[in-house]
Amino acid sequence: MILVTGGAGFIGANFVLDWLTQSDESVINLDKLTYAGNLQNLASLEGDSRHIFVHGDINDQQKIATLLREYQPRAIIHLAAESHVDRSIHGPEEFIQTNIVGTFRLLDTVYRYWKEQEGKTQQAFRFLHVSTDEVYGSLSKDAPAFTEVHRYQPNSPYSASKASSDQLVRAYHHTYGLPTLITNCSNNYGAFQFPEKLIPLMIVNALAGKSLPIYGDGQQIRDWLYVKDHCSAIRRVLEAGTPGETYNIGGWNEKPNIEIVHTICNLLNELRSADYHKLIKYVADRPGHDRRYAIDARKIERDLGWRPVETFETGIRKTVKWYLDHQDWVASVQSGEYRKWIETHYQEHVG
Ligand code: NAD
Ligand code: DAU
Repeated sequence: MILVTGGAGFIGANFVLDWLTQSDESVINLDKLTYAGNLQNLASLEGDSRHIFVHGDINDQQKIATLLREYQPRAIIHLAAESHVDRSIHGPEEFIQTNIVGTFRLLDTVYRYWKEQEGKTQQAFRFLHVSTDEVYGSLSKDAPAFTEVHRYQPNSPYSASKASSDQLVRAYHHTYGLPTLITNCSNNYGAFQFPEKLIPLMIVNALAGKSLPIYGDGQQIRDWLYVKDHCSAIRRVLEAGTPGETYNIGGWNEKPNIEIVHTICNLLNELRSADYHKLIKYVADRPGHDRRYAIDARKIERDLGWRPVETFETGIRKTVKWYLDHQDWVASVQSGEYRKWIETHYQEHVG
């Protein structure tokens, strides 16, 4: 079996659901259930003995050691993290504790478990660390996209904490020989994404008739990847990646934020026959806002034969439809904590 951390979050839940449609290999899912973790995302697995959910923190080394001893997983897929840049600007501490200290504790416990394995089992073991393109910093408009050897230049507390965790994973391979893999991926979108991130926030705000807050001039560029494509890339890296290597994962879909929001409005106009563009509102910029990210995903294509399946046009249509069809999910994640975050954060941006 495999052990997934953060499997109740956005990418983690998609990964677990996807894994169990592709394979009969069981998944232990270790998740702290922070505001971003939601067991409803995994409701379709109720009664499925292949999914073992464990409520816990990656900082809890004793719990992890017990789990490893009990279940003897052949691989760890490490997704658990604090993931929202704006929250890291408001309160970096939790990002340091989970993304850096938590990754260190998980790595160290896994290393001790791996050391006790023998022969082929030890050789075949993998620790796959899921990271982000934000560790590379910001690109100018015409600069070439990030390759795996691009200099690390993180600019936010979130990206700095992810960069630190990448370096720890690298060190555990280099020093102790732990068979690690690192993936650095661009912006994901799709079902179950918490509506604090750009795409789901714009969809749920539009449906509620609320303004669509665009930071700064809206010309910041991100590369967008449909979440199921990210899941298939992770599976492929786990299956065929070379230990010690890093693989950049991207969608070949660079777009300015304002274009993303116009596309969402167009789709909602079509599906709901109303004018959503009028809700667009330019607000104060994010401090230290990275101007452009772009992923050069040729290595994973060349070495592992992986390419994304969805175009932005097909993926965003599926995503908008998913949010329209799952308004009960949206309502249930918009709890007191969510409302508090939206109020305090966007009050600052509007000024
Ligand atoms: P998310 O915030 O939706 O989910 C994070 C999950 O981790 C939640 O279920 C949460 O409960 C859990 N978690 C948090 N702290 C924990 C802890 N201390 N112990 C155990 N579980 C804990 O995040 P996401 O968007 O699904 O991102 C998953 C991973 O992918 C992160 O490592 C993130 O850095 C990386 N990533 C995300 C994107 C993206 O666009 N969302 C892109 C590239 C990489
Ligand atoms: O690049 C990968 C990263 O993508 C992941 O590592 C992070 O976990 C994930 O959150 C995401 O980070 P971003 O900061 O790029 O995503 P976010 O959805 O917060 O913002 C996308 C862009 O949209 C960014 O330029 C900021 C802008 N934005 C965001 C929000 C929430 C707005 O203009 N208005 C908003 O209200």
